[in-house]
Amino acid sequence: MPRKPKAPVSQPLFAEPVFAEGVPTPDPSQFTVTPDDSADYTKQVNALLYTEVVSFPQAGGKPADLFSLETAWGPNGPAVIQSINAAQSITFHMIGDSGATAQSTFPAMIKVSDAVTNDFHSASAANRPSFLFHLGDVVYNFGESAYYYDEFYEPYRNYPAPIFAIPGNHDSFLLPNTPKGSEPLTIFQRNFCSASPAVTVEAGSLHRTSITQPGVYFALDAPYVRIIGLFSNALEDPGVVSSQSSSASAKSKKGTRTNKQDNTTGGTPAWPVVPDYQLAFLTAQLQNIKSNNYQGAVILAVHHPPFVYSPPGGGSSGGTHYSSPFMLADIDAVCKNVGVYPHAVISGHAHNYQRYTRKLQLNGQSYSVPFIICGDSGHNVDKLVKSSFGKQTAEPGDNVDVSYMDTGAIVQSTSLTLNKHDDQNSGFLRVQATASSLTITFNPVPKSGTAPTPDTVTVNLASHTVA
Ligand SMILES: [Fe+2]
Repeated sequence: MPRKPKAPVSQPLFAEPVFAEGVPTPDPSQFTVTPDDSADYTKQVNALLYTEVVSFPQAGGKPADLFSLETAWGPNGPAVIQSINAAQSITFHMIGDSGATAQSTFPAMIKVSDAVTNDFHSASAANRPSFLFHLGDVVYNFGESAYYYDEFYEPYRNYPAPIFAIPGNHDSFLLPNTPKGSEPLTIFQRNFCSASPAVTVEAGSLHRTSITQPGVYFALDAPYVRIIGLFSNALEDPGVVSSQSSSASAKSKKGTRTNKQDNTTGGTPAWPVVPDYQLAFLTAQLQNIKSNNYQGAVILAVHHPPFVYSPPGGGSSGGTHYSSPFMLADIDAVCKNVGVYPHAVISGHAHNYQRYTRKLQLNGQSYSVPFIICGDSGHNVDKLVKSSFGKQTAEPGDNVDVSYMDTGAIVQSTSLTLNKHDDQNSGFLRVQATASSLTITFNPVPKSGTAPTPDTVTVNLASHTVA
């Protein structure tokens, strides 16, 4: 049975970060506060979901600064780092779109949080995950404080490691007439970007303390891996990481499938509300990697996926979300300017699993880069294709060429392949990095029965080839 949240725990309570309850407790069987705000989805709000972006504060520190895993672990940090180095590899989890909003999806949310938590406890010491990275849409539908307990703190109450997060559109979209101080990004930052670890009002009677990320975009530095997290703003589609005033964005506009509000023209911001902090941040992070000859794995995490499957010819028979070519143009432009491309790009948002390989040329070097979507960690699972006016669209097979989806012109992309997808099961990613490779595994979590075989891709860090 769920425990009724009591009054917030008084502060200060702990001298170090806390990540789990001292004694594991049984799963709840229902919400404490029924998280159903579907009444807010009025016709008016539904239209705003495609037009209203939000501003956000500049992350603390300098753009090239790193937020270390060791810091997040507090006094236990040195021991955690030592054990990672002794194992000569780091393992961590990634999930996206985890919160349930209805009793019908409550079991899926709990199954995934249980699977992730059990994986932590059942893994051998050398394979034990060191953290969980949330790819956004932590709390539905609009990141309200009241739902953090049921959708985040309670399901992950026994996960005994830091949980980092980038906000998704549902953690940032601002409902009209939201009282000051209750804006979703304000609440997100209280729980993930606090000045020091604290038990927040959202945690109720649980003891997980807030994370001290420098901002809604940040670079997590750990042994063998660096995760550059970007905030792709509040729209249902597309993802937006800048004002899109650069000519680079304009040049990318030759796509087959246009997004609403993709009205970029050279020099005129398409999204004047959105600061350009993240362009400077990404530039500084990649320059840091280049100038220091960083040898570890580099992952770019961004909630909205650059690529979402659409059938040949586009039309309305794809899934429920679209690609974000202008966002990708911003990312590609920075990568091209610096001369560094991530080893993998990982997103959430679309409620299924999709794994692509994008082949590109940069400064004379060939790159094979996995673009992965894991947006099915509890909220819902959507079909990859949908019917339209009675017309059935066939599901693609494995390893199909979808180069028609890569419409960008910033980097020299030579092919895009959809290697694998799963639109039947929830799931989570288990990621492992060593000195020479990055391995990303999707672990399906079925509604019932035996879990299907996981899907795995491995990137050679030195050659940027995949297997
Ligand atoms: Fe989303």
